[in-house]
Amino acid sequence: MFHTDVCDLLGIEYPIILGGMVWIGKADLAAAVSEAGGLGLLGAGGMTIEEIHSECSLVKEKTSKPFGVNLPMIRPDISEMIDASIESGASVVVTSSGNPKSFTRVIKERGCAVMHVVPSVSYALKCVEAGVDIIIAEGIEAGGHDGFDEITTMALIPQVVDAVDVPVIAAGGIADGRGFVAALSLGAKGVQLGTRFVATYESAAHPRFKDAILQLPDNGTTITGRTTIGPTRSMKNTLTQKIQEAERQGASAQELFDLIGEGRSAMASIEGDIEEGSAYCGQIGGMIRELKSVSDVFDEILAQARDTITQIRHFSEL
Ligand SMILES: Cc1cc2nc3c(=O)[nH]c(=O)nc-3n(C[C@H](O)[C@H](O)[C@H](O)COP(=O)(O)O)c2cc1C
Repeated sequence: MFHTDVCDLLGIEYPIILGGMVWIGKADLAAAVSEAGGLGLLGAGGMTIEEIHSECSLVKEKTSKPFGVNLPMIRPDISEMIDASIESGASVVVTSSGNPKSFTRVIKERGCAVMHVVPSVSYALKCVEAGVDIIIAEGIEAGGHDGFDEITTMALIPQVVDAVDVPVIAAGGIADGRGFVAALSLGAKGVQLGTRFVATYESAAHPRFKDAILQLPDNGTTITGRTTIGPTRSMKNTLTQKIQEAERQGASAQELFDLIGEGRSAMASIEGDIEEGSAYCGQIGGMIRELKSVSDVFDEILAQARDTITQIRHFSEL
């Protein structure tokens, strides 16, 4: 059940993808997701070339199943990142933050599948032109960097599905079986989850960051960067207040980058400073109440998805 053409294209059992997450999506998490039957992705955005090699090797020690890497195309050493990922055994490359035309052909020629993250139909069409195998359409609910147009997952997915002839994966605001079934109903062939996987034993997130997700209310996230550096969804904290105040005062992009600093202090570093540091988090964090193992997350999503379909079938028979 739940086998779609995304499973065949990626060589996986269930169409559930671990969203690439800078500093958090390391080998333990990626391997656990692949081992559970989904596709584990290393969030390589903050990794050096050596780290890409070593994290890929670690994944391969933990699982023989397919895994991939998420590479932000704004990195100046993106070509070396691609080389390192493919040489080290990744079978899928997910590109984000850039034009899919730049590297899709090169990656595919080396035998890897390419997925690209988009926030709108126009970007999805560029992916089709570039030859991308699978499009990940991400709504504004998602944690991390989002699109300027701020289109919600519910509105985005059917529009992208109707516009393209390649499989679409839904991302943003999905963390359980109900969300999974909803995405499939909208025409997606799979889902990509970020925030749910942050709050797992296997994620490299700082324990304070994981705890903060478990306490998050439904309105606990906010968007910064709307006018300058690009919308970014994070937990509301002192840092987001400072950024929003600076934005009201007309701060330049450089001033905002200086405020944000290295950004990892909340998410994964030893400081785990969830007040003063960046804490990328999706709106669905407000529903996540328990730290779990990745395999439990999978079991629960799949069981709830089956129950949801049974219930819907029941309603349709009334
Ligand atoms: C902590 C965190 C870090 C993220 N880092 C990246 C990243 O480096 N590259 C990327 O393409 N997306 C990144 N994302 C987005 C995820 O890959 C995923 O698409 C998103 O989290 C899905 O929405 P959700 O948070 O509602 O599950 C990040 C998300 C979170 C929560």
